[in-house]
Amino acid sequence: MTAEIIDGKLFAEKVRAKVARQTEYLKANAGLTPGLAVVLVGEDPASHVYVRNKNKATIEAGMKSEEIRLPDTTSQDEVLTVVNRLNDDPAIHGILVQLPLPDQVDETAVLDAIDPEKDVDGFHVINTGRQAVGLPAMVPCTPLGCIMMLKDRLGDLSGLNAVVVGRSNIVGKPMASLLLAENCTVTIAHSRTRNLEEVCRGADILVAAVGRPKMIQGNWVKPGATVIDVGINRIAKDDGKTRLVGDVDFDAAKEVAGAITPVPGGVGPMTIACLLANTITAACRIANVDVPEV
Ligand code: GUN
Repeated sequence: MTAEIIDGKLFAEKVRAKVARQTEYLKANAGLTPGLAVVLVGEDPASHVYVRNKNKATIEAGMKSEEIRLPDTTSQDEVLTVVNRLNDDPAIHGILVQLPLPDQVDETAVLDAIDPEKDVDGFHVINTGRQAVGLPAMVPCTPLGCIMMLKDRLGDLSGLNAVVVGRSNIVGKPMASLLLAENCTVTIAHSRTRNLEEVCRGADILVAAVGRPKMIQGNWVKPGATVIDVGINRIAKDDGKTRLVGDVDFDAAKEVAGAITPVPGGVGPMTIACLLANTITAACRIANVDVPEV
């Protein structure tokens, strides 16, 4: 059996098209132009690529986009001043501070300075707590994209065994929390987990978010399982060039799984689409208008 390949790129295009319709509707009917600000501190090349893509997608959706680039010598106070200015700007509904931040800037202090209503990354401790107890919250984009793909393929997730490999604040923990909210039986596995292979083999839904190239092997996958690969790892090829691979050994796992996301073209495109969707959610909440179903 060969797995269905879940096309995250196509799915993301549909989400982005909906966001563009919603933006058009809000502009025409509520006088509201959703605005997203992205703050980038330093010279990390991968971050520059992400931020450029986010900016492009925001403009393509018809939203207002503000990009703030700061040198890697920027102090914490200077970053906080920018965040506070964006908190007070009525044209901005979503604020994202690209991670990682340089060492002199305290990540938690910066994330928690963002107005929780504008926290489109869903990393603020208020949003983490609200999501955990089932209150309306901004939800981190990558796990949100994974849940959308899972529900699209599987429908009701109730009672399924979900294993999340990785316990980061950005992906692993919120992913587990969202799966629990969907009534899955959830296990979070990590570097200290005993019998990781066995644990993975029990998963109807296997989410890999460890950042280790091809760590999850084909025979760790339960036949028919749905595999979501969050990893984006750049590895060297024999010809000296590089290529992207996930945390799952895709070629082996696709022979066992029922469905699997590829890398690239799986989870990655969904993250930006969900960021735009979160910006619509934030703009509507702040302006006190319903999210348009168009
Ligand atoms: N760096 C890598 N992924 C992310 C993300 O989803 N949000 C932010 N703010 N920074 C990141």
